[in-house]
Amino acid sequence: MRNPNFHTALPGFFFFFFILSSCRPSLQEYSSPALPLNPRLAQAFIALQAWKHAIFSDPKNLTANWYGPNVCKYTRVYCTAALDDPHVEVVAGIDLNHGDIQGFLPEELGLLTDLALFHINSNRFHGSIPKSFCELRLLYELDLSNNIFEGEFPEVVLRLPSLKYLDIRYNNFEGYVPSRVFDLKLDALFLNNNGFRFSLPENIGNSPVSVLVLANNQINGCLPRSVAKMGATLNELMLTNTGLAGCLPPEVGALGRLTVLDVSWNELVGPLPETIGKMRRLEQLNVAGNGLSGDIPESICALPNLKNFTYSFNFFYGEPARCLKLQDKDDRKNCIPGRPLQRSKEQCASFLSHPAHSFVLKNLLQTNHIPNECSHGISKKLEGSSCPDMNR
Ligand SMILES: *[C@@H]1O[C@H](CO)[C@@H](O)[C@H](O)[C@H]1NC(C)=O
Ligand SMILES: *[C@@H]1O[C@H](CO)[C@@H](O)[C@H](O)[C@H]1NC(C)=O
Repeated sequence: MRNPNFHTALPGFFFFFFILSSCRPSLQEYSSPALPLNPRLAQAFIALQAWKHAIFSDPKNLTANWYGPNVCKYTRVYCTAALDDPHVEVVAGIDLNHGDIQGFLPEELGLLTDLALFHINSNRFHGSIPKSFCELRLLYELDLSNNIFEGEFPEVVLRLPSLKYLDIRYNNFEGYVPSRVFDLKLDALFLNNNGFRFSLPENIGNSPVSVLVLANNQINGCLPRSVAKMGATLNELMLTNTGLAGCLPPEVGALGRLTVLDVSWNELVGPLPETIGKMRRLEQLNVAGNGLSGDIPESICALPNLKNFTYSFNFFYGEPARCLKLQDKDDRKNCIPGRPLQRSKEQCASFLSHPAHSFVLKNLLQTNHIPNECSHGISKKLEGSSCPDMNR
């Protein structure tokens, strides 16, 4: 409603609607009406025309027929009966996935107040998410992934009361992630492959998501113990390459529904918690590329559904025979006596005498993902390898 044009355009549409609505049955006879059939479609028309003007390249011609008032005929625009009035047709979904479209999202999109699905993954949309998205009270699935959106976390998503699926992965978002995102009643949250830098907040355990993917961002610090509270809902937790440091808290074992746990290529140290052996549904476990050591708990390799256990590039020195029987396992580059492709005796000995120091060295040498200036900080962090109860 910020655009002054709306105020001039809308009264006309409303007037038209009131005249026609008194003789609704005859509306069906209009195959090609001059104007949208109801005020909500009139608003959608304004929104979609504004969007069309914000599109600079559409190589697949998905929006080529986005003209004229009959928005329900537009390609990839889906209409249905309004939730609050089965006699009113409204725009409920837009799916421009894999469109390779270049452009931005105009504020007018906030006029699509009946939208439940907004999917624009794999395009070249840039800029930020319009503040007017807070008008989308029915929005259930928001998929902005694989575009070139930038700037801070789009806080407007925190104000969408119906949102269940939030996917903003593979963009150029940066800065911190507000802790309130973990209080939303979401089913799935994908924030991976952005430039976010943040600590996992203590309220992470409030999130009822079944899938949480934070991989390839910069998370500082530990996985909070409160993850245990996600035991009834969480199926997949992906934290690869996030800079997660310190311990893997034993509380992860409370995630009894988890099927996929990936904490690979982080800065975790200490033993693998025995409690992982309680995660009866676990199918995929990847802890590769950390500074983990000690014996692999036998209970983990005995998990009934475990198919793929990757623990290469750590400093484990004990491996129960049972682990060797797993369908897929990778134990390379550890310190396990008698196993092929292990680290050198020197590397292992040096790690055992100065775990923190060699761990930093290992990362510098082999993954190149820890800049030199961080090594001091990491050594300090490793001195006490347990998580604080509260994250700052
Ligand atoms: C899109 O439309 C343009 C112009 O009409 C045409 O040259 C091009 O081949 C179309 N592309 C596709 C993928 O249909
Ligand atoms: C097992 O997991 C690792 C790490 O995620 C992956 O690279 C590998 O392809 C998986 N193996 C199979 C057979 O799926």
